[in-house]
Amino acid sequence: MNIYLHLAYLTASVLFIIGIKMLNKTKTARNGNLISALGMLIAILATVSQVETITYVDIFVAFLVGSAIGLFFAYKVKMTQMPEMVALFNGSGGLASFAVALSDYWLHTQQHSIELSNITVISIILSIFIGGITFTGSMVAFLKLNGRISGRAIVFKGQHFLNLILLLVTIILSILIVNFIAEPSYMILLGILSLVIGILVVIPIGGADMPVVISLLNSYSGMAACATGFVLSNNVLIIAGALVGASGIVLTEIMCKAMNRSLLSVLMGGFGQTNVTGKVEAGEIIVKEVGVEEAAQIFDSVSSLIIIPGYGMAVAQAQHAIRELYELCEKKGIEVRFAIHPVAGRMPGHMNVLLAEANIPYDKLVEMELINDDFVNTDLVFVVGANDVVNPAARNTPESPIYGMPVLNADKARTIIVAKRSMKPGYAGIENELFGADNCLMLFGDARQSITKLVSAIKEL
Ligand code: TAP
Repeated sequence: MNIYLHLAYLTASVLFIIGIKMLNKTKTARNGNLISALGMLIAILATVSQVETITYVDIFVAFLVGSAIGLFFAYKVKMTQMPEMVALFNGSGGLASFAVALSDYWLHTQQHSIELSNITVISIILSIFIGGITFTGSMVAFLKLNGRISGRAIVFKGQHFLNLILLLVTIILSILIVNFIAEPSYMILLGILSLVIGILVVIPIGGADMPVVISLLNSYSGMAACATGFVLSNNVLIIAGALVGASGIVLTEIMCKAMNRSLLSVLMGGFGQTNVTGKVEAGEIIVKEVGVEEAAQIFDSVSSLIIIPGYGMAVAQAQHAIRELYELCEKKGIEVRFAIHPVAGRMPGHMNVLLAEANIPYDKLVEMELINDDFVNTDLVFVVGANDVVNPAARNTPESPIYGMPVLNADKARTIIVAKRSMKPGYAGIENELFGADNCLMLFGDARQSITKLVSAIKEL
């Protein structure tokens, strides 16, 4: 490898690290993304300059096809579909590692008859195993997120036992491959096992635990890429994969903390699979409805307001209407803040991204731990398309599938107005007793439409 290639890879790696660091803060995140992308461009150009086995025409055709698919999705995918896209990205990363490692093994054992070192064979096994799990696991997560299969946990008797047996078989097979057999068919069998394990480990995870799974799969895709870097002896792939793997694990840890779950309990699955709704049974909640004019009068009479955005805000694309409401309230002298739950929406940082897109000042977005004690002294909480993240059952109802998950203390405010379309539950599929609370009023309708009408009604007062 020549010195220029080393330098290019080093530059790319440094840019990745700076980029990730900048993703830490909303203000610098956009530039962080650009810097990481620049790093990737340098890494790609440096790698392409070294190719020997395929022509530049082949590379250019692949580049055109990949870019066309990327552009198509960038324009077509709605913001609400981003979590599914992330699942697809993770899955593609896993599949790429899986395919590259398998073909490398195939090539060496079949065509070249070159003796592979144990380290390389172990790297190939890890790449195929983690890549395979990432691929099928991400596909299941994708189908769960877009509703093609139930978002709830799918469990059957003996599931954990079956997983354990498959894992043991995989380990034994790996030992055989490393020590005794250089036969592609055994590696293919290992690949099939990892694909099956990927499905089996993700189907029992459901309800509110999906955020943890998505960040874990993200981390797996990095680990698989890192292992593939060892297979190909490509330093930048090792570093980039390790960065994705490590940051994914950190994010998984943050998500576990946010859900108050141990990683092991999430991986064992089965949470959120029951129809248990805690103290409140479906249809039992009696709610008080509020009209736009009445809601406007309430807004006009308060001096402190906390807005809680949730997944419904993303569905309704209500963030711009919310900005208008925010500006109007500030003009009236109301103290307005936004309470951000770490798993609100369908991907980490979902609410921050949408509110930043609508130019809501960053300092108005307050994390759950910092704002949760302030609800008691707040006149009005406006819940926009949020449900699970304000469900008091997480605090009060031990039988609830989300019991123990930290939630925003919206119920402690003097008055709560909830903007949503119906009494349908949120992602975890459970009833929310908050909606029936004495201090809670329901503003039914699409969030964007309701808020637009609300803004006009407040202006008319
Ligand atoms: P959810 O609990 O999913 O509730 C969203 C609510 O938005 C629904 O009850 C829905 O009620 C309402 N809604 C949908 N479209 C709407 C519209 N056009 N206008 C107004 N309301 C609308 O959302 P949340 O409180 O943000 O909680 C997030 C959930 O997703 C958690 O359970 C979390 O674990 C899970 N999850 C999160 C992530 C990440 S990383 N954030 C990833 C996967 C899963 P109606 O249908 O009645 O309107």
